[in-house]
Amino acid sequence: MRFDALTPTYLFREMEERAAAYRERHPDAEVLSLGIGDVTRPLAPCVSAAMARAAGEMATAAGFHGYPPAFGYDFLREAIAGAYARRGVTMEADTVYISDGAKTDAALLPRLFDGVTVYLADPCYPVYRDAHLLAGHRICTLDATAENGYLPPPPERGRDAAIVYLTSPGNPIGVAYDRAGLSAWVRYARQSGSLLIFDAAYAAYLPSDLPHSIYEIEGSRTCAVELGSFSKSAGFTGVRCAWSIFPDKVTFGGVQLAPLWRRLKSISSNGVSYPVQCGAAAALTPAGRAATEEHVRYYLENAALLAAALRASGTPFVGGTCSPYLWVTCPRGCTAWETFTRYLNERQLVVTPGGGFGAGGEGYIRLSALGTRDTVRRAAERLCP
Ligand code: MLT
Repeated sequence: MRFDALTPTYLFREMEERAAAYRERHPDAEVLSLGIGDVTRPLAPCVSAAMARAAGEMATAAGFHGYPPAFGYDFLREAIAGAYARRGVTMEADTVYISDGAKTDAALLPRLFDGVTVYLADPCYPVYRDAHLLAGHRICTLDATAENGYLPPPPERGRDAAIVYLTSPGNPIGVAYDRAGLSAWVRYARQSGSLLIFDAAYAAYLPSDLPHSIYEIEGSRTCAVELGSFSKSAGFTGVRCAWSIFPDKVTFGGVQLAPLWRRLKSISSNGVSYPVQCGAAAALTPAGRAATEEHVRYYLENAALLAAALRASGTPFVGGTCSPYLWVTCPRGCTAWETFTRYLNERQLVVTPGGGFGAGGEGYIRLSALGTRDTVRRAAERLCP
C-alpha cells in the first residue's frame, strides 16, 4: 500500500479538526457549517416505520434475521431495479449490489484492477483519488474548468484503455452532464476499451430531462458500472445504505467484472442490516419517493438562498441548481485554505476548501446547502453582510 502517496489527512477530517479547534478557542462563537455535505432533514415517517417494524421482527423467533445475503435482500435489489425501470432503464435485480455507502464501494473498486491508468476530473471527490493512489495506479487528470463548463469531455489523444470516473451532478462542482456529454464518454469508452465508473449519488437533484443514470445512454451496459446512494436523497447519511450496478456484460481488459466484484464483496463485508434495507426499500415506495422529492426541493431552496446572497455580494459561483453544492471563487490572492480560515475567523462559517478536491480546486471553496433552513438563512446573511 502506498500511504506515502496520500496527503497526511483526509479533507473532511482536517476541516472538522480545524473547526473544532476554533470552537474550543471561541466557545461563545456560533459557528455554522456549510462544509461537509451532511443532510439534516428527518427521515420520512414511512422509512422510520419500516425500520422500527423490522427491528420488532428481529426480536421474535420467527422474524429474526442473521447475516444478510452478501449482495443484499432481493426485496431491496428488486425495488432498486424498479427505480431504474421508472427512468426507462431495464436493470436486472441481480446486477444490483447493496452496500453501506457509495464511499465504501468507491474505496473498494480499485482492488478490481492492477496497474491501470485512471482518469479523474480535477477537482473530484477525494476518495476516488486516494483509493487509486493506495493501489499504486497511474492517475491522469481531466481539467474541469470554466471553458468546458466544469464537465471534462473525453481526451482527444491517448485513447488507451483506462478507468474513467464520471460524477453527475458533480461533487464538488454542482453541475451535470447532459445526454450528449455522457454519450461522448460512452463512445470513448467503447472505442478505447475503457471502463466508466458513474457516480450517481446526487442524481435525485437532477431535473427529469437530464440523465440520472449512465444506463440511460445507449451502449453503456458493456462499458460502465454505476454507484448509487440513499444518503443525499432519502437522508441516509446516518443510516447507511447504497448500491452498485455491475451488468454482466461489462468487461475491462477482456475480463468480466461482475464475478470479480462478487468475489471482492464476499470477502470485504457481511452486508447491510435487515432493518436498514427495509428502510431503504420504504424510501422507494410512493410515500418514500414523495418524501425524497420534498427533501430535494428543500435543499435546492436552501441553495437558492445561498446563491442569492453570493450574487448580492458580487461573489462569482456556479452550481446550486441541480445539486446541493455551490462552487465559489475565493477572494483575489487567497488560497482555498486561507479562505477557509477567513470564513471561519471573520464569519464563523465552515466551508470546504476547493484545493482538497485536487489542484484544480485551488482558488475555490464549496458551500453545501444540506443544512437546516435556519442555518442556511443565517449563513446567507453572513455571506452578504
Ligand atoms: C461531501 O461533503 O462531499 C460528502 O458528503 C462527503 C462524503 O460523502 O463522504
